[in-house]
Amino acid sequence: MSTPVVGVARVDREALRQAIAEKYAQVATNPEIGFHFHTGRPLAMRLLYPASVIDALPPATIDSFAGTGNPFLFGDLRRGEHVVDVGCGAGLDTLIAAGQVGRSRHRGRHDFRDARKDHRGSCGDGPAQRRCP
Ligand SMILES: C[S@@+](CC[C@H](N)C(=O)[O-])C[C@H]1O[C@@H](n2cnc3c(N)ncnc32)[C@H](O)[C@@H]1O
Repeated sequence: MSTPVVGVARVDREALRQAIAEKYAQVATNPEIGFHFHTGRPLAMRLLYPASVIDALPPATIDSFAGTGNPFLFGDLRRGEHVVDVGCGAGLDTLIAAGQVGRSRHRGRHDFRDARKDHRGSCGDGPAQRRCP
């Protein structure tokens, strides 16, 4: 029996970061082009977001959703809790969180991609850290 060989790939971390950021920006601005990963409503259904919750959100937010998990599977937030969503992406989780805690308690969102500022479906069109509506 042979011993498996495990190596460490040589990766240009900065190039990888840039490629990931560009991919997220594409999902934000052109969700209809199609990707090698799941996006949008089908992804939200796979991640077990309730259909009733998803369908209440702006369509463009749903279309540009590219989340990697459903944080609400761990439980809902309580009214009055404070939320800062770092890496808010399309804003799907931001809007769900805002609805749970009460919008006046929602402190803000941030995403490192400038494309998010222009994103049609996100929770705001101003600069990062702006309060959600
Ligand atoms: C998996 S998506 C988040 C999806 C989001 N929860 C939603 O509901 O749409 C991750 C996001 O984090 C952002 N991001 C990654 N690294 C970041 C960083 N260092 N600072 C801010 N945002 C970051 C990416 O641009 C991407 O939009």
